[in-house]
Amino acid sequence: MDDLDTLLSDAHALLAAATDRRQFDAAMSQLTGRSSIIAEAKRRLSQAPMEDRPALGKKLNEVSAALERVIAARRVEVDRLEADALLADDRRDVTLPIRTLPLGTEHIIQQVLDEVCEIFVSLGYSVATGPEAELALYNFDALNIPKGHPSRFESDTLYINYRDEETSYNDPVGTVLLRTHTSPMQARWMESHQPPVHVVVPGRVFRADTLDATHSPVFHQIEGLAVDEGITMADLRGTLTHFAREFFGPGRRIRLNPSFFPFTEPSAEMAVSCFACDGSGCRVCSGTGWIELMGCGMVDPNVFEAVGYDPAKWTGFAFGMGGERLAMVRHGITHISHLYQNDLRVLNQF
Ligand code: DAH
Repeated sequence: MDDLDTLLSDAHALLAAATDRRQFDAAMSQLTGRSSIIAEAKRRLSQAPMEDRPALGKKLNEVSAALERVIAARRVEVDRLEADALLADDRRDVTLPIRTLPLGTEHIIQQVLDEVCEIFVSLGYSVATGPEAELALYNFDALNIPKGHPSRFESDTLYINYRDEETSYNDPVGTVLLRTHTSPMQARWMESHQPPVHVVVPGRVFRADTLDATHSPVFHQIEGLAVDEGITMADLRGTLTHFAREFFGPGRRIRLNPSFFPFTEPSAEMAVSCFACDGSGCRVCSGTGWIELMGCGMVDPNVFEAVGYDPAKWTGFAFGMGGERLAMVRHGITHISHLYQNDLRVLNQF
């Protein structure tokens, strides 16, 4: 009986000392386990004199119930203490300055290609890419570029596998080269799509050129092709005017000068009124007021024939522009190699 009386006050002290789950569990087994005072008291109850048993039993039940209440209350507290400790341990000082890594950006050429494509996508054009290792069939033959044309010479074109035998359009095996322009994708696209066609093709092209201020053996072009019923040169002019104003700003005018490409008839060189001087002549436009931007023209019927389009039914226009040229003109870059040397002092400006 005396032991039971002190048990409760001992239990309070014991539980209060337990501040985490492990200590709490140890205290609990000490208070209620097999060798605890309460368990011992329960065992002894059966040996007590008969007349003492009711009072003893009652006392035992009361102490048991009280013990359970303090244990339950302390369990809640210990759980909370432990959760608080975990939170405190996990705490991060969000005011600490982070260590930043230098952030890269898209290369200026990629930015220009993306921007040009975006302008045409907003007009409903698709964007396609084609192989850099190309068949002479697509790079030349399908584009109405005759055998023996100077652009086929090894002084201009980088060949991977030169085959001397005649190749026909229906027998697409033969000379493999590094494409000299993105125009072969005109033929590839038309071969696999029925008109109406509206597509732009950004990509790398290759020529046997030596590096100078404006030439590089590897550079980028964006090809454009539109084919439908009733397309005229006025559509070409309107489309390129829209492009010039989107890319160089409002108010730009364009000029189409007669030119020649085997795959367009008629062909033209497109120039845009200088965005720096608005046409009066300055350093940007070498005093001419105009900046030559691209070749273009109406798709030659022979090209339609080569891909199986009926030239009596369909007409279209095509154009091809240089990515480096666009970037250099816009940003006043005077040597093409600035675009390739990856000098951070240059790249950081864009
Ligand atoms: N492929 C020509 C070149 O690399 C550029 C060009 C001219 C593309 C006229 C065209 C075009 O689509 O119609 O010089």
